[in-house]
Order: sequence, then structure tokens, then C-alpha cells
Amino acid sequence: MAPELDLTQVPQERRYEMLARALQMLPPNGEIIVLTQGAARPLLQRLIAEHWGRFDWTPLAEQGGCWRSALRKRDAPLQSLTEFLSADHERIDGLYSRMLSMVQAGRDARAEFRLFETAMRRHIAMEEEGFFPEFDRMMGLEGQGPTAVMREEHVEIRELLDRMSGCAAEGDRAGLLAAGETFVTLIEQHNLKEQQMLYPMADEAFGAQTDDLLRKLALY
Ligand SMILES: [Fe+2]
Ligand SMILES: [Fe+2]
Repeated sequence: MAPELDLTQVPQERRYEMLARALQMLPPNGEIIVLTQGAARPLLQRLIAEHWGRFDWTPLAEQGGCWRSALRKRDAPLQSLTEFLSADHERIDGLYSRMLSMVQAGRDARAEFRLFETAMRRHIAMEEEGFFPEFDRMMGLEGQGPTAVMREEHVEIRELLDRMSGCAAEGDRAGLLAAGETFVTLIEQHNLKEQQMLYPMADEAFGAQTDDLLRKLALY
């Protein structure tokens, strides 16, 4: 388990300083879990403004208004949208697999399901609210073209998530496994299309402006 930095009881004016120092002290690829009360957005905005390219910030789970987020020190600067969003696909795949093995073993998988669901919904929000509108503007597509297809698939993915979420809450193991199978088939094809076509297209179209887009996406 990564060490924790609990900022929930720290006075507001000292939080950023502690966070920045923790990042500085991390070894490359080192990770800590940061606990914040409410949204960590102002902290994250400042971290992005002052240390962009040197870290990954990933919100993990929320409970009672308290967020747990992972802060990892990068060993190399972020290069592309393809790298950023593909890494998130991989992370979500890992969270799904961990949840699935818990369900298959007949164990309580509610916490693992929450982690997976939070990650999946955040990824979709990043794409639909942050990435797709910028991509459409850049390509002059206005909601048509590849992002329209991806949005349609997101609708299906979200429906499956809702169904799986209901099953997870009720402890319906068979229902969760059945919906999970459909989910995996759908997400595999969806991610492949994004990683092989949409993301590289975007990297090429955005060119030097990719970094501005990545800074925006990092705030989700
Ligand atoms: Fe997507
Ligand atoms: Fe994606």
C-alpha cells in the first residue's frame, strides 16, 4: 500500500505546500495516496500550474465528502494524448480484473467495484466533456464523425455500468458476471478504436497544443 498524506485536518493555507513537498520527495514512479476534504481542484490547479509534466494525479474514491487520490511522480514527461488516455484504459482494465476476481472468488467486491466504477465514469467524463468537444472544434466536425460514434458507445457502457452497479449493491453475483461479460466485449472494441484511431488522430491534429488539452484533462 502506498503511504498516505492526509490533508483533511491541515489548515487550508498549508495544504498546497505539504502536497508540493511530498511530490518533491517522491522517487521516480513513487506514489502516495492523498486524502482531501471535498474537491481537490484548487490544489490540483496549482500543482498543474507549477509542476506540470512531473506527476500523475488520479482521483480514486470518494466517501463522505473525503476523496482519496493517487499522486505519482513521473519518470518522464507526458508525451501525448494517446499515452495519457491509453494508460487510463489500462488502469481501468486492472481495476475491473481485480473486482472480477473478487466476485469469482465469492468475496465481497463492493469496494473494488466502487474503484472501478469511479475510474470508468471519470474516464468517460474526461472524454465527453474535455476531449471530444475540443477535438470536434479542431477538426471542424461539430459533434459529427468519430466522437459521435464513441458517444453512442458510451451510452451503452454507462447503461451496463448502471446495471452492474445495481447487481454489486444487491450482491447479485450472477447478474454482475453476466453484465460484466457484455461490458468487456464492448469496452475492448471501444478502447481499441480510440487507441488506434481517435487518439493518434487527435495527437496529430493538436500538435503543440496537445499539452494544453492534457492540462485540462488532468483536472478531471
Ligand atoms: Fe471512450
Ligand atoms: Fe477512452
